Amino acid sequence: MVSLGASIGRSLRAGDVVVLTGELGAGKTTLIRGIVRGTGSPARVRSPSFIRMVEYEGPVRILHLDLYRVETADPEWASTLAESAGEDAIVLLEWGERIAEVLPAERWEIAIDFEGEGRRVSLSATAPALEARIGALGSALVAEQRLGGGSGT
Ligand SMILES: Nc1ncnc2c1ncn2[C@@H]1O[C@H](COP(=O)(O)OP(=O)(O)O)[C@@H](O)[C@H]1O
Ligand SMILES: [Mg+2]
Repeated sequence: MVSLGASIGRSLRAGDVVVLTGELGAGKTTLIRGIVRGTGSPARVRSPSFIRMVEYEGPVRILHLDLYRVETADPEWASTLAESAGEDAIVLLEWGERIAEVLPAERWEIAIDFEGEGRRVSLSATAPALEARIGALGSALVAEQRLGGGSGT
């Protein structure tokens, strides 16, 4: 899961908004640990469930938000998110679907589902420009697997 996250992290840039969905314990924070590493940041990922937002320093600044305890469309969150998305940072959102109404139109979506002992990770985008980048990432993942890297479920 961490190595898959790292591959995803390598293809993210400042300005990207990534929404992670999946039940409690699905592995959203674990995947984010990999994503942060993939961007080249040495930061230690924490779970911001209680403090809502954590910032990590690195080659690209990262904002990690967890909306688990957020009420639907809390207006305060709408503005926090709008500000975050406008910044020169990668925004990683756990439980982003809670504020679906105010999410930016262009975003990456990562869904994690339990599958037996493992997890199924599905990547998609809400805009054609991002779909091309996800396609490139998919090809890179296939190549890595051929080299024995594994996608790390
Ligand atoms: N294949 C797997 N992928 C991710 N996490 C797994 C896997 N198998 C077991 N786990 C465990 O599930 C938990 C996932 O927790 P976490 O990443 O905090 O989930 P979430 O942020 O979605 O609530 C961790 O304790 C992790 O060790
Ligand atoms: Mg979490």
